[in-house]
Amino acid sequence: MALDRVLKELERRNAAAEAGGGEQRIKKRHDKGQLTARERIELLFDVGSFVELDRLRTHRCDEFGMGDNKVPGDGVITGFGTVEGRTVFCYSQDFTVLGGSLSHTVAEKICKIMEMATTAGAPIVGINDSGGARIQEGVESLGGYSDIFYRNTMASGVVPQISAIMGPCAGGASYSPALTDFIMMVDKTSYMFITGPEVIKSVTREEVSQEDLGGAMAHNSRSGVAHFMSPDDQACIADLRRLLSFLPSNNVDDPPLADTGDPQDRLTPELEDLIPENPNKPYDMHTLITAVSDRDSFMEAHAHFALNAITGFARIGGRPVGIVANQPMHLAGCLDIDASNKISRFVRFCDCFNLPVITFEDVPGYLPGTAQEWGGIIRHGAKIVYAYAEATVPKITVITRKAYGGAYAVMGAKHVGADLNLAFPTAQIAVMGADGAVNIIFRKEIKEADKPEERRKELVEDYGNKIATPFRAAELGYIDEIISPTDLRVRIAQGLAMLANKKGITPARKHGNIPL
Ligand code: HXC
Repeated sequence: MALDRVLKELERRNAAAEAGGGEQRIKKRHDKGQLTARERIELLFDVGSFVELDRLRTHRCDEFGMGDNKVPGDGVITGFGTVEGRTVFCYSQDFTVLGGSLSHTVAEKICKIMEMATTAGAPIVGINDSGGARIQEGVESLGGYSDIFYRNTMASGVVPQISAIMGPCAGGASYSPALTDFIMMVDKTSYMFITGPEVIKSVTREEVSQEDLGGAMAHNSRSGVAHFMSPDDQACIADLRRLLSFLPSNNVDDPPLADTGDPQDRLTPELEDLIPENPNKPYDMHTLITAVSDRDSFMEAHAHFALNAITGFARIGGRPVGIVANQPMHLAGCLDIDASNKISRFVRFCDCFNLPVITFEDVPGYLPGTAQEWGGIIRHGAKIVYAYAEATVPKITVITRKAYGGAYAVMGAKHVGADLNLAFPTAQIAVMGADGAVNIIFRKEIKEADKPEERRKELVEDYGNKIATPFRAAELGYIDEIISPTDLRVRIAQGLAMLANKKGITPARKHGNIPL
């Protein structure tokens, strides 16, 4: 073929790839307020930086009339580009081509990009918008899914993997996002489930809408499967870019520093009045996190799930950090099964990718109840210890108020390897609250007193006065310094600078066995 004919043919094929499933199908998506796979890519990457690969690849199925139904590129767009100047790999499923369904070719394209990302040491973003396994291809498609799952697992802890669910993601297809580090969902236009409403109805007679079952809010608030929720496609892509800005490209890189213009030595006097005198009165831990973080830098993860705990990314003096906190506004900040999973998974992510973990602790203990015990709080709560103990990144813990019982021991205590343990003068560190303690250790004395109730009150007050300080822990060196809330940001920034070259070492082994 003469060169000009080849070039014409190339032009024709490129145009066919860019047209995807055609104008009608693209219009249908736009009418629903959704962007196309290509538009999403354009928004994600720095202008003009995206390089598409495998644009001309087609599926190899001839059954069911598929031989005449081939779009170059098939149901996914793959490639790499830069986000704020750093390389990122991406695949974006194209719903306009056979519903974005996964042919073996689509799977091969995705696997190729995942392998390239792991080799190049750069994050992978997967934009999911697919009707699932390509029905016409049968088991070839199923094998393709397993190929992806395998690579997700191999890339885990090597490069950050982020999934954006921007349309359907059903059946076994949901396992690829679930194997990645973070899942983002778009409100009202995305859904995930293993079995859909129809199957559920026929098997269990339960009736549930698609949105209630697997919509963005269901997974952000109830199941905890998703970590972020955005109102529309544009906002989701903006969130993706923001999340990437905190993360290193891979497990041997440091997270990117940024000049936030917020001085490291900024004092935080506004926190002096945050902790109420009455230990049973709640306060919003977000106020503290916002005050300590560089201005507007806090990005909360799992904001709608397990509200008794807070997790998220922020910058302090321009350095990215992972923040973990108890939230006294919800269940008094008690730890339960969901909070345990939320915290331990987040700490492990930070440890994978060299993000220091800053913990703000105000926890009266584990949530009591049969639902918690029978649900396995022992197993789930143990994950928190495991995650903190195993993490070799810099760990700084600040006790703002209560640190009672097992919760003291697990939430980033000195004993599980924290590097710097600070406490406010309002800290209370004890096996349990004064009421519970007095009822146990002075039971006999109270019973035998002339006025038992008065005696009990006296003892509670006395015990309370003894535990309502951080001094015992400081005397033992469990707390390195008692600090004023005004100095909180400065002390954390100093701690981070001091720990910047920390090299943590754990014993050689194949891998540990975290309680799951
Ligand atoms: C082939 C598919 C497809 C699929 C959709 N299409 N899903 N083609 N394989 N899995 C095609 C449709 O034929 C249609 O083609 C186009 O995509 C758009 O689909 P519509 O149904 O018109 O769109 P919509 O009304 O928005 O509904 C979307 C949908 C529905 C809810 C996703 O298409 C659907 O239920 N699809 C099947 C889902 C499913 O059961 N998948 C298999 C799950 S099992 P035209 O040419 O008309 O545009 C699975 C196992 C994975 O995935 C296991 C991994 C281990």
